Amino acid sequence: PEAPVGPVPPPPGMSHGYFQHGGITFPGLLYSPRGLEAARDFPVHDDDVFNVTYQKSGTVWMLEILSLIRCDGDPRWCRSVPNWERGPWLETLLGLRRARGAPRPRLISSHLPVQLFPTAFFSSKAKVIYTVRNPKDVLVSLYHFARIFRPYKDPGSLEQFLEQFLQGDVPFGSWFDHVRGWMGLRGRENFFCISYEELQQDLRGSVERLCVFLGRRLSAAALDAVVANASFAAMSRNRMSNFSLSPLFILDLRRGPFLRKGISGDWKNHLTPEQSSRFDRVYRERMAGLGVTFPWDPP
Ligand code: A3P
Repeated sequence: PEAPVGPVPPPPGMSHGYFQHGGITFPGLLYSPRGLEAARDFPVHDDDVFNVTYQKSGTVWMLEILSLIRCDGDPRWCRSVPNWERGPWLETLLGLRRARGAPRPRLISSHLPVQLFPTAFFSSKAKVIYTVRNPKDVLVSLYHFARIFRPYKDPGSLEQFLEQFLQGDVPFGSWFDHVRGWMGLRGRENFFCISYEELQQDLRGSVERLCVFLGRRLSAAALDAVVANASFAAMSRNRMSNFSLSPLFILDLRRGPFLRKGISGDWKNHLTPEQSSRFDRVYRERMAGLGVTFPWDPP
């Protein structure tokens, strides 16, 4: 899957056009200004649970965990319904329609930056779970993803893509702005932030904390079942979670899997020491004054 490949030509009738909405770049395939406006106006219920991330930070992993918690660890829902129906993506028109009609309590996924999120959320009791990941790993994961996700432009070389990522010149905008924006909700009762790295280090403990936030009590056996069924191996085998049912014009899995490596620190296999230092400099500048320590921050 990691063999070098050439640019992906758009399928007939599709273009790789991007558009801007609220200062953020979106691909023209799957997304539209109308859809984003409708997402902003989305009617939120107090029992909604939103799975929010900057892309490639563990969205589908968290979605699997939340799906399993909802079913007390019983994997039948996860094994019979594709993840994009269990926790539809709010910012696509199709996802929005699915979210509107989903049985309550609804699970809804989103990569939207906080300023484009449904306005109604901010005066509701609905819950947001925000998953963050080491941005160097996000960069590497996004680089590979951009080669298989047809709405995205081919990322070119990693060197070029690194610059675009650091400048926020990528779909869904800057990682730094996204994280800073959502971190502004820290301290709210209905906001829970967790990192991909914490999920990696202690999945069971993370699930327990999520259950407390969600007001769910799971037995030890149910917790074990959540952990077992949300593992990288179990999800890679599950056709409802590994995107093998996704149409080719959206995702070209011939060029690599969606569930690619599922590890922390893969950036070390991709970035040169110079690229890593450049990243660190921009990171320090852009995250200055935030007052939050992440697992990847130096002590
Ligand atoms: P890699 O490309 O580094 O492998 P998102 O769902 O936000 O698009 O994020 C995708 C990333 O999460 C991919 O990272 C994918 O492999 C990883 N991932 C998904 N499920 C996982 C799991 N159960 N355990 C570990 N990583 C997982």
